[in-house]
Amino acid sequence: MTSSTAVPEPGPNAADRTHAAAGGDVDVIAIAPDPAVAEGILAETPLEDIFDVGVVDRAQEIIARYPVARSALLPMLHLVQSVQGYVSQEGIAFCANQLELSDAEVGAVATFYTMYKRRPCGEHLVSVCTNTLCAAMGGDAIYKKLQTHLGSESEPLGQNETAGTPNEPGSITLEHAECLAACDLAPVIQVNYEFFDNQTEDKAVALVDALQAGKKPAPTRGAPLTSFKGAELQLAGFFPEDDRQYRTDVDGPSQAVETLRGAQIAQERGWVAPVAQDVPLPEVEKK
Ligand code: FES
Repeated sequence: MTSSTAVPEPGPNAADRTHAAAGGDVDVIAIAPDPAVAEGILAETPLEDIFDVGVVDRAQEIIARYPVARSALLPMLHLVQSVQGYVSQEGIAFCANQLELSDAEVGAVATFYTMYKRRPCGEHLVSVCTNTLCAAMGGDAIYKKLQTHLGSESEPLGQNETAGTPNEPGSITLEHAECLAACDLAPVIQVNYEFFDNQTEDKAVALVDALQAGKKPAPTRGAPLTSFKGAELQLAGFFPEDDRQYRTDVDGPSQAVETLRGAQIAQERGWVAPVAQDVPLPEVEKK
């Protein structure tokens, strides 16, 4: 804690300096605006130029799914990402207008979850799991390899940085991610949230090379690849209405042999989980 009451100057490291500058009894870390977001504020593009009538209709459709409008905020943020490839200041204002919330309420949610991007994303988002099991199985090495492959030895790509121009074909935003809930298939990578299991450095390089060349390799499980914006539209809850188109665009195998192996062995051997009420609760020491 510091007694300084200096006001931080705006600039690239404002977030680091804001904590010290808060001073007194205030012990919070304020979040400085992302430079890309700050640019959006300055540009002040009219909302209807970005979010046209079709997007407004979709927003109303999302809101109608919930008894209380503010409950629609998470899919609404996916909807704005499907338009711009990130949550801009205009995207925050759009959600706030539609849901009758303040910009601060929307911004607080948008900056809490890592799935909401604060800078424009590439055509594809490549997420490398570097949590414990994947890291031990090669995830750390894969992430490092992709950093230099998509950047260079001297200037490796950083977290949430993009190789190429965001939104342009073949551009890739790279991130390392926490556990992606596929530890039995470690190390894993996701592209636009679809799984590529049992990865190696060579497989990962071949994957991003294919993406940069405009190809869409088939994920190991899940839906066929689309783009980051396409995936965001699905996350907002919009899918092809035609059943055949839905099956082509969205459907895919959801489980892996490895994931089911334990259940299959248990079935073959007649193992069942004990019924909960038959298990005595352990003694808890009184404190
Ligand atoms: S540690 Fe990578 S999926 Fe769990």
